[in-house]
Amino acid sequence: MEHYSKREFMRLSLMGFMGIVAGISPLCNYAVAANHPSKSLNWDAFLSRIREIAQMQYHKPWNNTSQLAAMIDVLKNCHFAEYDIIKNAINAYSDRTPHVFEHDLLYKEYEFQISLLHFEKGEEITPHDHPEMCGVMSVISGEIFVSNYTRTEDLDKTRMVNHNQKNMIIKSCLLKKESEQMLRSGNLSSLETRKGNIHALTAHSQSHIIDIFTPAYNLVNEQSSLWYHIDHNKLQDQDRETFVAEYVASIE
Ligand SMILES: [Fe+2]
Repeated sequence: MEHYSKREFMRLSLMGFMGIVAGISPLCNYAVAANHPSKSLNWDAFLSRIREIAQMQYHKPWNNTSQLAAMIDVLKNCHFAEYDIIKNAINAYSDRTPHVFEHDLLYKEYEFQISLLHFEKGEEITPHDHPEMCGVMSVISGEIFVSNYTRTEDLDKTRMVNHNQKNMIIKSCLLKKESEQMLRSGNLSSLETRKGNIHALTAHSQSHIIDIFTPAYNLVNEQSSLWYHIDHNKLQDQDRETFVAEYVASIE
């Protein structure tokens, strides 16, 4: 908004003044929506709140728990199904890649990104991690089963597998199950940079999910992400919570 000095302001015609009032009003509405988490947020106000909260990743130490709690507070006040950007994306969705989930990147800047994931019944994302990232997902519609694990220990066992004329170094670790839940419309799931950072998803019906990560995907966190094969028969404790898992550490 342009700056007006007191003198210039007094010289304005009535029409000019009305123009300023008309310009101020939407700004005020925007600020109200952005600063009162208890109100339903419009899309721009939502982005503004997430941007503000995403700055917490620069606080040292990064308090994942507080950041996620703040994000969850915001998400609880968002009616995602009513946002035009989301309605349009869901309307435009078709199952172009059978048996594989699809996604739309709704917004991305360095500190965070927001995606809309689409699953058909039975589609899944196998266990994988999100190195140095915090994430929250919110189910818009459908039913999706989500499990979260924490990598608790690296094991000495290493083996090599030749696949497509390449040697894959397979390493082992222990994963502790943190949670597993069936998520439905309005339900949330989150992961921290360590705790519960590995997750797996299986859709039990067609599902649409909002997914927010801080920071956004970049070359470093994308390339260091790992996929895990969990051996659910290899329990490492009495309470059936810790499992042996393998992952491809490198390909030569
Ligand atoms: Fe993920």
